[in-house]
Amino acid sequence: MPQTRISIFDTTLRDGEQSPGCSMNLTEKVRMAQKLQDLGVDVIEAGFPIASEGDFAAVRAVAAQCHEVKVAALCRTSEQDVARAAEALRYAAHPRIHTFVATSDIHLEHKLRKTRAEVIEMTRAAIRQARNYAEEIEFSAEDATRSDIDYLCEVLDVAVDAGASVLNVPDTVGYTTPAEYTHLVEQVRERVVRDRDVTISVHCHNDLGLAVANSLAAIEAGARQVECTINGIGERAGNASLEEIVMAMHVRADRLPFVTNIKTTELYPTSQLLSSIVGFEVQPNKAIVGRNAFAHEAGIHQHGVINNPLCYEIMTPESVGVPANSLVLGKHSGRHALSLRYMELGYDITSAELDEAYKSFTSLADRKKRIYDQDLISLLSGARSIGAAA
Ligand code: KIV
Ligand code: ZN
Repeated sequence: MPQTRISIFDTTLRDGEQSPGCSMNLTEKVRMAQKLQDLGVDVIEAGFPIASEGDFAAVRAVAAQCHEVKVAALCRTSEQDVARAAEALRYAAHPRIHTFVATSDIHLEHKLRKTRAEVIEMTRAAIRQARNYAEEIEFSAEDATRSDIDYLCEVLDVAVDAGASVLNVPDTVGYTTPAEYTHLVEQVRERVVRDRDVTISVHCHNDLGLAVANSLAAIEAGARQVECTINGIGERAGNASLEEIVMAMHVRADRLPFVTNIKTTELYPTSQLLSSIVGFEVQPNKAIVGRNAFAHEAGIHQHGVINNPLCYEIMTPESVGVPANSLVLGKHSGRHALSLRYMELGYDITSAELDEAYKSFTSLADRKKRIYDQDLISLLSGARSIGAAA
């Protein structure tokens, strides 16, 4: 089956950074941006330049240093916002101005205090202004999923006529469902894009835990850019998680015939770098990059995995870059090294537990080429349940 290329728009440094406890300084942002570039994302949204001097400087530094990717700067539709974004992108090799305005009646009435006609004019003016500075303009209709579809299509049509080549329909409050979002993307394709060279982008928040499912549904419906963040960080419950979207397409290529430029083996190291910068880890059961993502706790699962990992593993830890454990199995030294590794992982274990875990460890090491921390955690939980039953 032919595979369609999906562009990955990473907004870890903008929407992600907006989440509580996730702010990053300039050096950290540049380090993270370089890692994202190595990971293979297509676009890095580096910040919201008008928001603060720090954001402006960070976008400028990322634009100056990351020349292999497109660098996007966010702005509202006001003249000063657009000019500030353009200034921050001055040294970008591939700049993208990303301008947005809300299109739902609730936002128009209670936040913007603008009429529908005024928002249309704001859209047109901002995009025309932005086109003086950059070739590539993305337009986002904030709160698209709660907007009147006829009005949404009208605004998007104006955006394309004014010069936008990427149209984003964000699920700003994480409210939509996969079937509803599918319908929205289809409508935009048929009524706005038609045969024009315009990319539909999707941007989902996770308030109902549907961000990844909604993003994948939108891709199946014709979206060709997906906006997401490492570890799913972002406003409130976060944004769609980059690693989950990419691996869903990778593992289920039979149902999702799409490809990205992501080096999947860089996913775990990138997630780890972000955790170390923001100072907190993802939850242990987080898909793809959580500590337990490849750990098998139930005895029956462990047994299956020992015989053949395919029994319960739909992807290997190596495929997402989880480092193999460097323990070399010896006799006495192996047991000691095992105990040390448990200590490093933060486990305080009794000598009886170590004995049990070590027995399983040697038998696992006989069958498996590489032992991961996740395997050790599984082995320990097995050893502990044996201890509890005894
Ligand atoms: O969630 C949202 O609507 C946004 C836009 C600014 C793209 O983050
Ligand atoms: Zn957002």
